[in-house]
Amino acid sequence: MTDPAIIAVDGPAASGKGTLARKLAAHFNFAYLDTGALYRAVALSVIDMGGQVETEADAVAAARRFDMSRLADTDFAAALRTAETGRAASVVAAMPDVRAAIISAQRQFAETPPGGKAGAVLDGRDIGTNICPDAAAKLFITARADIRAERRWRELQADDATLSFETVLNDIEVRDARDAGRAAAPMRQAEDAHLLDTSDLSIEEAFAAALALVEGKLNR
Ligand code: CDP
Repeated sequence: MTDPAIIAVDGPAASGKGTLARKLAAHFNFAYLDTGALYRAVALSVIDMGGQVETEADAVAAARRFDMSRLADTDFAAALRTAETGRAASVVAAMPDVRAAIISAQRQFAETPPGGKAGAVLDGRDIGTNICPDAAAKLFITARADIRAERRWRELQADDATLSFETVLNDIEVRDARDAGRAAAPMRQAEDAHLLDTSDLSIEEAFAAALALVEGKLNR
């Protein structure tokens, strides 16, 4: 059997990486893993357990105990998407032992994609640099902070109409700085990743550009 084809999609919050990663997975019939959901789930589990996300021992205990199958629970999955969980996720994600506890689940997903699929698409912050440094294709998706805040604000409006644009922009800027500035697997474009700025692209245009870049790599 040939090794599965791995596509790594990294980038900051609301850059469009999740949408593009999902569309790439559907196009190639590959398995898809949203690794941000794992950090969000760890953060939510800490809160569920009555712990504090800033307390490393609580976060590490939740990460070690975390069961990926919980992501299939739709109520749990909906709670993952709130602004508060996003903030808390970026706090636990800066802790090296939290990251270490969920590395093998991510690598296993990539190396043995569920459903016997021929490949896997993983999106996150450190897929191309740390989780799957040998991925066949790597994309780093970005967009200007004001555009990303606008997209995220629209998404979050459905659940919380009181959330202001300024709060969302501030959250995104704080999170970008924390994700890029941490010592443990910081968010960074891998040297061999293609940069795609989606600021002025529609979803269709961004997908066409991403697909062309990935096909160029997979067809080698
Ligand atoms: O959807 P959005 O881009 O806002 O966030 P996410 O991808 O769900 O990730 C939530 C948080 O998890 C990020 O702010 C990162 O701190 C962390 N994360 C990470 O450190 N490494 C990853 N591979 C994925 C997410």
